[in-house]
Amino acid sequence: MARVVCPGSFDPVTNGHLDIIGRAAGLHDEVIVAVLVNIKKQSLFTTDERVEMLREVTKGYGNVRVERFHGLTVNFCIDNGINAIVKGLRAVSDFEYEMQMAQMNYRLAKVETLFMTTNPQHSFLSSSLIKEIAMYGGDVSGLVPELVLGRLKARLAEE
Ligand code: PNS
Repeated sequence: MARVVCPGSFDPVTNGHLDIIGRAAGLHDEVIVAVLVNIKKQSLFTTDERVEMLREVTKGYGNVRVERFHGLTVNFCIDNGINAIVKGLRAVSDFEYEMQMAQMNYRLAKVETLFMTTNPQHSFLSSSLIKEIAMYGGDVSGLVPELVLGRLKARLAEE
């Protein structure tokens, strides 16, 4: 069984993430979307909220599962019988760090990393930029799923 993982912070999930998750689901038996519980990084949404949004927006895929994890991605892979990590590459600027992590993950546990080029429609997208634009009242519709758009508006209105 070809089971792969798409790890990330997903704070929040964007249409760029969804594109990669959906394409990975078309190529593998099972995709686990693993949401990092990062106690050091301040996030806009809690881990529970991020997991819940991801579950909702990926519910159309029969072979996508959403889980949370902490610690090393390779340990999550070992514990869950995962063969490879799938990552989206938006631009050359992503490549250097992603390559370093891929080589380290292979060195640590012989876990492979498969890179998928992001759809050019999404190559400028990042969760941080989405949060920044939304925070200053910019329009992020079409860049995140409708559900996330609503949650972003609600969360920012609370602040
Ligand atoms: O969405 P992000 O924040 O860019 O995702 C980064 C993530 C979660 C994939 C990366 O930080 C990660 O794998 N963190 C888990 C800790 C780990 O394994 N670190 C060593 C990487 S070689």
